[in-house]
Amino acid sequence: MSEFKELVFSGVQPTGNLHLGNYLGALQKFVALQESHECIYCVVDLHSLTATLVHDDLAEQTRSITAAFLASGIDPRKHIVFNQSQVMQHAELAWIFNCVARIGWMNRMTQFKDKAGKDRENASLGLLAYPSLMAADILVYRATHVPVGDDQKQHLELTRDVAQKFNNDFSGRIAELGCGVEMEVGEEKVNGFFPLTEPLIEGPVTRVMSLRDGSKKMSKSDPSDLSRINLTDDADAISRKIKKAKTDPEALPSEVAGLEGRPEAQNLVGIYSALAGVSRADVLADFGGRQFSDFKPALAELAVEKLSPIAGEMRRISADPAYIDGVLRDGALRAREKAETTMKTVREIIGLIGG
Ligand code: TYM
Repeated sequence: MSEFKELVFSGVQPTGNLHLGNYLGALQKFVALQESHECIYCVVDLHSLTATLVHDDLAEQTRSITAAFLASGIDPRKHIVFNQSQVMQHAELAWIFNCVARIGWMNRMTQFKDKAGKDRENASLGLLAYPSLMAADILVYRATHVPVGDDQKQHLELTRDVAQKFNNDFSGRIAELGCGVEMEVGEEKVNGFFPLTEPLIEGPVTRVMSLRDGSKKMSKSDPSDLSRINLTDDADAISRKIKKAKTDPEALPSEVAGLEGRPEAQNLVGIYSALAGVSRADVLADFGGRQFSDFKPALAELAVEKLSPIAGEMRRISADPAYIDGVLRDGALRAREKAETTMKTVREIIGLIGG
């Protein structure tokens, strides 16, 4: 029985500075997966048009995210790093998926509801169809694993729904062409062209929260810069933000269960454990019973130790935009070849004439 070859894909939008949430939820995992898997990492510039069409600095932002990938330790020779718009097969497959997915599925997406706000009629059609392009990003490589933060979970469920519906709708053609791969769906064995992609959302912090409010996600769009640690922050800024982070008046608990109902404590302990690469229980074994006034300086020191070299490397890489453009061009060339292999079969399955 043939199986889908394991392949990792993930993407980051070129909108605003990357922050600690992006690093711990995504980049750190991207780097780790390189050891065990073939990986494709993409700066999703087409996605960034869905909220705001005109960006003054789209190219600059795209280079900056690429620099962050490289500075974090992604190897663009062993793996693929590129920007989405250079591989037009993403947009082609997204169109087909627009015809597979249902409007009702899109209307249920919480990110769409949040981003569109009250004036939904006035949101761009692209914002509504955003998850369809995301499914295409992943499935145009028939990727099997997608490392992301917790906020992307619903989009990945939709990606599985799209794959499953395509496999069902075209099951006859897929069998006729013999291009399917056998896979287990629940109890059943089915033959499908697209894999049911698995999200990789694990680790001590899958959702890094705002430093000012433990009930809100750390985000690029929060108006308060004190709410997040940017990957480009210097040591002083990192220390200041951690010192000012909201906490509660209690000492840290000695057991993980004691973090329950204490969102700020939970967040800071989670950040510490993810940065140190140890479990939350280990962090609490060291810091249980101690006050935040003891814990915060240790966290600041750790954050500076881990993040400052990345910021330095980002500055060094960003000074050479021609090098970055070369990395993206080379990555796009290799990605295009893989994506075109998939699209040739997709066109054949559907019955679109062409090669
Ligand atoms: P984006 O650009 O908003 O975020 C990039 C990655 O960072 C993660 N993330 C977080 N993780 C933990 N805590 C946080 N506070 C936090 N904030 C952001 C996100 O989960 C994400 O993994 N739709 C995607 C981009 C995308 C994509 C894809 C991802 C487009 N196509 C295909 C995977 C596969 C997005 O907007 O991520």
